[in-house]
Amino acid sequence: MKRIVITGCSSGFGKLMAEAFAREGWQVLATTRVPEQLAPQKNLQALAADVTKGEGRAAVVSYVRDNWGGKLDCLVNNVGFGVNGAFETLLEEQVRRQFEVNVFSAMFLTKDLLPALRAAKGRIINLSSVLGFTGMPFAGIYASSKFALEGWSESLHYELQPQEVQVALVEPGGFRTGFAKNVEWGAANDSPYAQPVQNFRNFFSRRMERNAGGNPEAVVRAVVKLAGGRRMPLRTRVGGDSQGLYFLRRFVPQRVADMVLRGVSRRLMGDG
Ligand SMILES: NC(=O)c1ccc[n+]([C@@H]2O[C@H](COP(=O)([O-])OP(=O)(O)OC[C@H]3O[C@@H](n4cnc5c(N)ncnc54)[C@H](OP(=O)(O)O)[C@@H]3O)[C@@H](O)[C@H]2O)c1
Repeated sequence: MKRIVITGCSSGFGKLMAEAFAREGWQVLATTRVPEQLAPQKNLQALAADVTKGEGRAAVVSYVRDNWGGKLDCLVNNVGFGVNGAFETLLEEQVRRQFEVNVFSAMFLTKDLLPALRAAKGRIINLSSVLGFTGMPFAGIYASSKFALEGWSESLHYELQPQEVQVALVEPGGFRTGFAKNVEWGAANDSPYAQPVQNFRNFFSRRMERNAGGNPEAVVRAVVKLAGGRRMPLRTRVGGDSQGLYFLRRFVPQRVADMVLRGVSRRLMGDG
């Protein structure tokens, strides 16, 4: 039976992935800060651990050593959240925490688990985003955390080839998870950004009210397929928005793509 660690499983993609892998017969270790959110299920073990902290990561490593003989077939670095707002108004603490949660926790957990992944010729799947290859106003810190994840993952993808440890990135567009409600906003009051940020927030609130965004099961299916398939492609984009933006950036002349994205950004910051 194959063994998988998935981080951040109290909601969203993490919870659904943990349940799906357990149904598929994988032995799942699902890390979470709120284990009571995960219903007991065959093959699924919830571990109360915050992997953004050293003690949380140490608990995962101990579990893999003590229960799985130090072998791990797949690690899914899923933990993540968004700090949004005008860059100039964000606090240093918010910027640092964004990277601590979205980037450094994945890096250090992976580092700690690499011996176990090597022992099983395992795989690493990192949850990036459409904002891992495209910038957007008021999402610069989140986007830069995902761009960082992309550069690190792409490098590891090549670096770990000789050890037969595969590395992949999943780049979802907008999906209905806990993500939107957990976004932390900078305070833009009394700044030139106040109105544009309010317009931008209104746009996203309207999207939430409409329950817009894709069904997260599409991302779950993509990750299950990656983990079980023969060879993982480096990048998998999920969702029409992610695929559309990729097409725009890859196949449309840069000047035209920039014009389109400037128009979309103006609209997001205006009242449209
Ligand atoms: N939903 C989207 O539209 C979308 C699009 C592109 C990429 N993503 C990425 O997909 C991944 C999963 O997000 P999701 O959409 O499933 O959102 P979610 O429902 O909010 O789940 C995110 C998980 O990350 C963990 N987490 C969040 N903030 C944390 C913090 N400050 N410290 C420690 N753990 C924290 C939580 O784990 P516990 O509470 O279990 O500890 C939570 O279950 C993230 O990396 C996100 O950036 C999401």
